[in-house]
Amino acid sequence: MKKKFLDLGRQPITNSFLNKNTIKKNRIKKEFFYNLSAGFNKKNYLVSIMNFVNPKKQYTNKYAHRASQSKTMNESFKKIATRLKKRFKPKKTLEIGSNDGVFIKNFKKDKVIAVEPCGNLAKITRQNNFKTYKDFWSQKLAKKILKNNNKVDLIYSANTISHIPNLSEVFKAVSLTLSKNGVFVFEDPYIGSVIKINSYDQFYDEHVHLFSLLSMLKILSKTDLSVFDVEIIKTHGGSIRFYVCKKNSNHKKTKNLKKLKLAETKQKLHKFSTYQRFSLRVKKSKKDLLNLLSKLKAKNKKIISYGATYKSTTVFNYCNIGKKFIDYVIDTTPNKQGKFTPGKHLPIISPEKGLDDNVDYAFLGAWNFEKEIVQKEKSFLKRGGKFIVHVPKVRII
Ligand code: TMP
Repeated sequence: MKKKFLDLGRQPITNSFLNKNTIKKNRIKKEFFYNLSAGFNKKNYLVSIMNFVNPKKQYTNKYAHRASQSKTMNESFKKIATRLKKRFKPKKTLEIGSNDGVFIKNFKKDKVIAVEPCGNLAKITRQNNFKTYKDFWSQKLAKKILKNNNKVDLIYSANTISHIPNLSEVFKAVSLTLSKNGVFVFEDPYIGSVIKINSYDQFYDEHVHLFSLLSMLKILSKTDLSVFDVEIIKTHGGSIRFYVCKKNSNHKKTKNLKKLKLAETKQKLHKFSTYQRFSLRVKKSKKDLLNLLSKLKAKNKKIISYGATYKSTTVFNYCNIGKKFIDYVIDTTPNKQGKFTPGKHLPIISPEKGLDDNVDYAFLGAWNFEKEIVQKEKSFLKRGGKFIVHVPKVRII
């Protein structure tokens, strides 16, 4: 049973950007909202949101996020693809949640299978001649894939497994699909980093779970799989990458497991009180951010937001930040431009149009790309423009 520790209030689906017509015809009353709160399971140490949204409402043909839009992500997927090929030499690889193909494009077309439920994204990898199954990951799909293919040596998944409520189904399907010594490598935002840098905006409808090693060890103890290696990586402000194999395979457990287990025990990721304290820091972060924005507005500063991210949807709806503070949001993703942010209905435009000379401050909704963006927007900073970031503390750069 989950015990609640955090309440982020009424939230919309982070991916449901609104179009002009909806706004004009005042159809926004129909916008879907749910209560976003997070809880901790004392039995398996898993942190999850309390209310799951129906995946069919989330992963549609209009899914906006395109992983290949970011230079950082292109580079990081290329790097991990190269490392995995070298370490495991897979004859066949399968990716769960292949988005627009940012990872699989690093593989030969006949050596990789894509699984992606969002129609618009599956279409892209299909058009690029990658074998693509437009579906949710399940045992049923695994059986369908195995009708036409041998078992695979490598299953990879980034920012997808944490989106799936039923983890037992995920691992059963993985187990069916993996060859005897095959490996399942998956990475998702890390609860240890969320606690450390106060990135409460990692909680949104899609992030159903936020994993730790301690929780994964408990969860997998009930399956025929086990973790044999683990890494903490910088992606998305701190992610955890698990290396999982069948319990009867030939993979040896690495020292990284022991080390991280110790670190997580020290951080008390297995204690409810850790999450209670975190929720107090979240409340303070909200107060600090609202204070800062109010002060700047009192001085008539023009504030915009940089990156129409899912994370900023959580921040804006939790802190009640709307047009009073933020004029508009800029984002490089073409299918977000011209639309309005979920819940707060801030217009989204391109950086070319929006980052004009009148902008004094830009709230960095895409704070996980701080380095890439600061590098790219040197001229904005040079002319006196400033970024506002809310992690690890509300600050100006
Ligand atoms: P994500 O944090 O969910 O990956 O989303 C990042 C968003 O930020 C995505 O919509 C693209 C946008 N973005 C920009 O607009 N400019 C940039 O330079 C980068 C790196 C991202």
